[in-house]
Amino acid sequence: MKRISLTQYLVEEQRSHNTIPAELRLLIEVVARACKTISHAVGKGALGDVLGTANIENVQGEVQKKLDIISNEILLEANEWGGHLAAMASEEMETIHLIPNRYPMGEYMLLFDPLDGSSNIDVNVSIGTIFSVLKAPEGMGQPTEQDFLQPGSKQVAAGYAVYGPQTVLVLTTGNGVNCFTLDREMGSWVLTQSNMQIPVETREYAINASNARHWFPPVTRYVNELQAGKAGPRETDFNMRWIASMVADVHRILNRGGIFMYPGDAREPDKPGKLRLMYEANPMAFIVEQAGGAATDGANRIMDIQPQKLHQRVPVFLGSKSEVERVTAYHQQ
Ligand code: AHG
Ligand code: MN
Ligand code: MN
Ligand code: MN
Repeated sequence: MKRISLTQYLVEEQRSHNTIPAELRLLIEVVARACKTISHAVGKGALGDVLGTANIENVQGEVQKKLDIISNEILLEANEWGGHLAAMASEEMETIHLIPNRYPMGEYMLLFDPLDGSSNIDVNVSIGTIFSVLKAPEGMGQPTEQDFLQPGSKQVAAGYAVYGPQTVLVLTTGNGVNCFTLDREMGSWVLTQSNMQIPVETREYAINASNARHWFPPVTRYVNELQAGKAGPRETDFNMRWIASMVADVHRILNRGGIFMYPGDAREPDKPGKLRLMYEANPMAFIVEQAGGAATDGANRIMDIQPQKLHQRVPVFLGSKSEVERVTAYHQQ
């Protein structure tokens, strides 16, 4: 089968759905090129002086890895000159990043987790990049953090890259989910999976089980039932996977189903768990819903949440619709 490039896909998508104006197409191609550059840096590992920590703490209270900073810089530099963006926000930057005066401002706002799965960098386990695209509010002047605080339902595009055995880019602009594989010899992204769909049913779940003592009763009940398998109220046995790179766990679920959970727990005063709404939960929720899955915080649809702060955290339950609905229902009881 003749494979098409990311560029051809975007041009044809614009022609058929009129949902990818030229500036958005440029944005996606620039981000995809930046992911190629990050993939190249990741691939060097110890040979490229990209491993280990930078001994700086980020706004999340995490010690930044060198690759957290390198990938953040790559995304900033790649996107500054194009004239497609009004501003950017990142897991690795406390405040928003404005476009330098020497470049024109555009109508889109880009948010990203430049390097997802940082704890896996030094042990050669798949990591990735997550991004989310919003439109600047009508009549916006100088962008502020407030302009970014839009619910996930306002996203016009979202995607992630996985730097693994293959480097892949998964993308949605609101008309389904497509996967592109990096052809390293040609340096181009090639469409390899169209209209990805998450199986509604699954026998696989993903959660960091070492946090079990902190979970709230609905999660404890739900996971205990999965672990009981056929001996309990469920009609089948289940398998468990936890990679600790959200991009890799989500990519597995997009391909073969599953439920991914990062619950809130009793350790935090407002109990949000670890994952960040604006550049992890929202983009992944957009992709998962576009692939026929579901994504909630245990009570509400993730993409309906009105953000209050740029780096706010949120509990995440996403993946195969039947399982997300079940664990969400347990929270209502
Ligand atoms: P990041 O590396 O961008 O900070 O994100 C890591 C996240 C997510 O990718 C993963 O699912 C989760 O942290 C793993 O958390 P635990 O280490 O607590 O399992
Ligand atoms: Mn992350
Ligand atoms: Mn990160
Ligand atoms: Mn981090």
